[in-house]
Amino acid sequence: MDSKIVLQNVTKEIELTSSQDELQKVKVTYLGKKGKITELLKSLKDLSIDEKKSKGAEINLLREKVQLLFEKKSKNLKTLEINSKLKNEFLDITFPPPDFSDAKVHPISKTFNEVVSIFGTMGYTIAEGPDIETDFFNFSALNIPEDHPAREMQDTFYIDNKDDDGNPLVLRTHTSPVQIRTMLNQKPPIKIIAPGRTYRCDSDSTHSPMFHQVEGLFINENANMGNLKGTLIEFCKEFFEVEDLKVRFRPSYFPFTEPSAEMDIAYEVIDNKLQIGKGKKWLEILGCGMVNPIVLENCKLDSSKYQGFAFGMGLDRITMLKHGLTDIRSFFNGNLNWLSKHGFNIGDF
Ligand code: DAH
Repeated sequence: MDSKIVLQNVTKEIELTSSQDELQKVKVTYLGKKGKITELLKSLKDLSIDEKKSKGAEINLLREKVQLLFEKKSKNLKTLEINSKLKNEFLDITFPPPDFSDAKVHPISKTFNEVVSIFGTMGYTIAEGPDIETDFFNFSALNIPEDHPAREMQDTFYIDNKDDDGNPLVLRTHTSPVQIRTMLNQKPPIKIIAPGRTYRCDSDSTHSPMFHQVEGLFINENANMGNLKGTLIEFCKEFFEVEDLKVRFRPSYFPFTEPSAEMDIAYEVIDNKLQIGKGKKWLEILGCGMVNPIVLENCKLDSSKYQGFAFGMGLDRITMLKHGLTDIRSFFNGNLNWLSKHGFNIGDF
């Protein structure tokens, strides 16, 4: 086809475009791999040397002109786009700021703050880990091998994608993987808590697919079960604001601790209200134990030198107990009426 005609056609087509997308489409039909101008250049190979010279120069000139036309139109379209944004999007700086006087602090946020502050006064720092974990951190390093019933016990959400090294990924079922991350990155003495979101495929009035836990880890050369019990009793007294708190530790099993225990606090119901700390009934509130030497070795810590304790507690559960709330789902359904009734004033936060 004649260069002049091509130039006329492309000029017209460019003129008709009104967006970058449309322009790009036209560009491909002329300058793309199978575009009209590219085909013209390809057809040069069948011509004689002299013809190649003159035709070649002509087509190259055409290509340069066409490229310039596309650049110019693209710039115009950008300017138009910016002008229309300036016209349509504006910020009303006279708009009054939101009124925070009615705002409430969510009970879970309050618990987070209290837990961090109580353990903070005991010298614990905060450690964090990702919500999407590898199978290694969530299970294997914690001495939960494949085929172990604990993997099913925890109703794991598996993720289709694998990490860069091909390892299976899960939504973390507990905050315990943060123990592993910390021990692999820090030398003892270690004293951390790891509050955060956790996930299990479970939903009823006391279980939510997304919930919160706090993990605790203390490692040095002589930590013992007495230190563990003292720490947890002190925490519960402060958190539940009960000085004379009746608790008990029951033997239990967790693959990552040995020995393992569960801590219960006493309660009774008086006038339809839950009283924490006394009475004949028991509520389970956390799991704990001495860190299994296998886990220490998995984290390259010498288990003949170091020992420590760990614990894991459900933050939603202790919030429900402290404030007499009965349905965990109400924490997460975003109901502002509920929040205005059960939330806390910012000043009390
Ligand atoms: N990860 C356990 C769970 O989610 C709780 C737990 C138990 C954590 C004992 C610990 C522990 O650190 O020592 O059921």
